[in-house]
Amino acid sequence: MASEIKKIGVFTSGGDSPGMNAAIRSVVRTCAYLKIECVGIYRGYQGMIEGDFKTLDARSVNNIINKGGTILKSARCEEFRTKQGRQKAYDQLIKEGIDAFVVIGGNGSFHGAMLFNQEFGFPVMGIPGTIDNDILGTSYTLGFDTAINTVVEAVDKIRDTASSHNRLFFVEVMGRDVGHIALNAGVGAGAEEILIPEQNLGLERLLESLKRSKASGKSSSIVIVAEGDRTGKNVFELKEYVEQHLPIYDVRVSVLGHMQRGGNPTCYDRVLASRMGVKAVESLLEGKSNYMVGIRDTKLVLTPIADAIKAHTEIDEELLRVSDIMTT
Ligand code: F6P
Repeated sequence: MASEIKKIGVFTSGGDSPGMNAAIRSVVRTCAYLKIECVGIYRGYQGMIEGDFKTLDARSVNNIINKGGTILKSARCEEFRTKQGRQKAYDQLIKEGIDAFVVIGGNGSFHGAMLFNQEFGFPVMGIPGTIDNDILGTSYTLGFDTAINTVVEAVDKIRDTASSHNRLFFVEVMGRDVGHIALNAGVGAGAEEILIPEQNLGLERLLESLKRSKASGKSSSIVIVAEGDRTGKNVFELKEYVEQHLPIYDVRVSVLGHMQRGGNPTCYDRVLASRMGVKAVESLLEGKSNYMVGIRDTKLVLTPIADAIKAHTEIDEELLRVSDIMTT
């Protein structure tokens, strides 16, 4: 594989997600295998601007495939949004002799990479890393599978108390703009109702569903609420609303928060990260740039970054229907 690229930078950016370390490991080891130098860029675009670089060899990434978070740290960087910030980053990369980079992150991180490529003609490749699974061009982002398993495990535990005390629980999960975590984990954990940003069924429907559920003989219920749900009420307000209108229910709230972003990645996320890292490096060496590596129907595919970030992913209508049927 003859290529102009002799040194590749790798970094993580935006919110961390389980599987990022496995992807870093894969990029580093693929470079070592192909006799390309690899440089870790710390703290995302901020570290790029400041020249926070460290050469990584195959042994620098021992024992990280199983770890959540990111050994390269992550940051959201305001300065990189400016032309001057990106110029500083470019100067640092050139000074270090870096010929291309792999960015592991979400929509915001990819947008920065795309602009950088357009302005400087610098070769870039993206690997989708976010628990939200909200990137077009891939059926799975790194961390999503781990996050939904974390949520299911937590809800299984909450269910013990819900059923012992005949209670209704509102469980808030992450997802500011999209409901993939809520819908998938909700179906997997057997939730009574799932409230997501993509659809506002209204508070009336929630009350109706809870009434029906009581009448059908259910003594406890779990309602999964995505952070960005459209009812206009947060989980604590929902609790008050239901207590006011359906006093028969004893209601509790549980906000799962950042525990969903941490923890050891599942096998699925580790394998996916390993595959994506290899594909990212090999694609750069083949002269491809400004793409994101994704997975579709078990096959790895490349999507132009511009297409990957142009819209939010759609909610899975079939799974929504399954969820409705399951609450019968
Ligand atoms: O984008 C991933 C995500 O986990 C969202 O689901 C959540 O709304 C957000 O990050 C939280 O971000 P932060 O850690 O910056 O508060």
